[in-house]
Amino acid sequence: MNILAIETSCDETAAAVVRDGREVLSSVVFSQVELHGPYGGVVPEIASRCHVEVLPGVIDQAREEAGLEWGRIDAVAATYGPGLASSLLVGLSAGKALALRLGRPFIAINHIEAHLYSPFLGAKAPSPASAMPALALVVSGGHTLLFRVTAPGQYVLAGRTIDDAAGEALDKAAQLLGLGYPGGPIIDRLSRDVPRDTVRFPDGRPKPGNPALGGLQADLCMSFSGLKTALMYRVRQTPPADDGEVARLAAAYQEAIVQALLSRVERALGEERVLLAGGGVSLNSRLREQLQVLADRRGVRLLLAEPRFCGDNAAMIAGLAGAGGGVRGAEAMDLDVVPNLAVA
Ligand code: KG4
Ligand code: ZN
Repeated sequence: MNILAIETSCDETAAAVVRDGREVLSSVVFSQVELHGPYGGVVPEIASRCHVEVLPGVIDQAREEAGLEWGRIDAVAATYGPGLASSLLVGLSAGKALALRLGRPFIAINHIEAHLYSPFLGAKAPSPASAMPALALVVSGGHTLLFRVTAPGQYVLAGRTIDDAAGEALDKAAQLLGLGYPGGPIIDRLSRDVPRDTVRFPDGRPKPGNPALGGLQADLCMSFSGLKTALMYRVRQTPPADDGEVARLAAAYQEAIVQALLSRVERALGEERVLLAGGGVSLNSRLREQLQVLADRRGVRLLLAEPRFCGDNAAMIAGLAGAGGGVRGAEAMDLDVVPNLAVA
């Protein structure tokens, strides 16, 4: 079963072909970072316009690199949420149109659920069924969510950020420090060989009873907006004198985010023997290292997505579709985009 998938939920225009939910035959990601960089964040109008321009070429490339004629594509999948409405619309419409043209089924996929599937991509990865029950962390520019996955497709939300996502907090910090966009990879690089403890940032813990928790346990949730404000005041009051000071500030800030994530994961760990992580921020070297330390200490198996499948990509969309996930049949063809689509 060869599935061609399309992903356009934010600012990556991506297409991929995956066989049987696991074997990635191609994965093409066109990053729009350079277009949005000057604005310090994604501009929805620019993103959707760019998707329209580059998506046909990206799809062609994915099929060609997979080495398959159109007749060998058995189904088409696309993301229908969550994400930017105008961006989602481009990929969802293209996916439906392509499926109709090929006379193949169409499968609509939830982007967050696909991030949760990303550690299972690749011929050598374990099967999802063998990794359940699992605790799963999705950390990206738009999301910071902690789930219990009781069985493939069965999710219970355990915790989340009540304001900024971890990646968003890193991107905003980089902007405040004049480091460029996107900030996550830059802060990751700067933080490698400098002390992380020269500044203390708030530990990102929401207060119990905060209505934004929506019934979730406060000690499994995160709040990163105070961190950003603390950095803003710090930079205003004592502007960093040199590059070394910028790096130490960045490292302390990153550490506060990493420790916030780790402490929630550790507290949430219950019966689960597997810890899954995906999303752009799961590329962070300090987070990866510390998750491994935590997993070893608690005797659980850590499954991280391969670096190329951490950020937004279409292989995770095709993979999940091939594993039986998503909305299928006539219902999928009738679906509209759902910008605030939830998993659980
Ligand atoms: O998953 P993704 O590509 O897109 C969203 O769905 O948001 O994640 C993008 C986010 C950005 O905020 C970016 O700064 C962050 O992932 N990111 C990183 C690293 N690489 C990307 N954050 C920390 N360390 C990294 N190495
Ligand atoms: Zn994403």
